[in-house]
Amino acid sequence: MDPILKVEDLAISFGNNNVLKNVNFELYDNEILGIIGPNGAGKTVLLNILTGTLKPTSGRVTFMGKDILGVRIDERARLGFGRTFQVPRSFENMTAYENVMASAICGGQTTQREAAKRAEEILEFIGLEDKALVLAGSLKLLDKKRLEIGIALAPHPKVLMFDEVAGGLTESEISNILDIVKSLKIHGYSIIWIEHVIQTMLNGTDRVLLLADGYDIICDLPQIVLDSNEVEKVYLGVRKK
Ligand SMILES: Nc1ncnc2c1ncn2[C@@H]1O[C@H](COP(=O)(O)OP(=O)(O)OP(=O)(O)O)[C@@H](O)[C@H]1O
Ligand SMILES: [Mg+2]
Repeated sequence: MDPILKVEDLAISFGNNNVLKNVNFELYDNEILGIIGPNGAGKTVLLNILTGTLKPTSGRVTFMGKDILGVRIDERARLGFGRTFQVPRSFENMTAYENVMASAICGGQTTQREAAKRAEEILEFIGLEDKALVLAGSLKLLDKKRLEIGIALAPHPKVLMFDEVAGGLTESEISNILDIVKSLKIHGYSIIWIEHVIQTMLNGTDRVLLLADGYDIICDLPQIVLDSNEVEKVYLGVRKK
C-alpha cells in the first residue's frame, strides 16, 4: 500500500541550530501516527514544514504521490492538509460557529449556505453545538481545543495534523479529545498527532514515532515504542541494559 504522505531525508537548520538532521517516515491512509519527543525536538517545526510555513534545508515531502515542497501554503490546504496549533488560534471575538464557518469558507471554496451547514455538522461532531454562539475567547480550554479541531476539519482535509491538542487538559478532558480523534479515524481521516502525554499516544494511535536529536529514532507500534530503550534513553537519559 502506498503511503498518503512520505517524508524523506528531511533537514532544517536555523543558523547553527540543526533542528532536523535526517527525518524519514510515512503516514498511511486512515492511520493515526503519533509523534513524541522532548521539548525543542522539532515536532512543531516538522508540522510547519508539512503545512508550508517553513521551508526545509533539504529533503522531500510527497503527498498522494505529488512532491509538495514547492506548493504554496494555501494550495497545500486545498490539497487536503488541515492542522491545529499548539496555542489555539481561533478568532477570540468571533463565536464558535463563526470560527468554523469562516474556516469552511476560506478553505473550502464553498457557498455561504453550504458553509453554514458544514459548521452546524462540525459543531455537533465536536460536541460544541450548545456553545455555537459563545465567543471563542470565552470558551474553556477543552472547548477551545475542540474548536481548533473543528476549524481544521471545516475545509474537508484528507490529513489532519494535531499539535498538542490534548496539552494542558485533565485526564477526563483528554479522554474527550481521544473520543473525537477515534471517531475521526472511523470517518476515514489520516492523522498526525503530536503529544507530550505518552499515555494518550498508547490509547489513541496506530503507530508512534519518536523524534529526538534531529532524527526519527524509532517508529513502531505504540507499545513497542513506549517500552523501547530509545524512549527510556531520550526521556530519562539512560538505557535499560
Ligand atoms: N522560525 C524559527 N526560527 C528559528 N528557530 C526556530 C524557529 N522555529 C523553531 N525554532 C527552533 O527549533 C527548535 C525546535 O522547536 P519546536 O517548536 O519545533 O520544538 P517542539 O518539539 O515542538 O517542542 P515543544 O514540545 O516544546 O512544543 C527550537 O530550538 C526552536 O527554538
Ligand atoms: Mg511544539
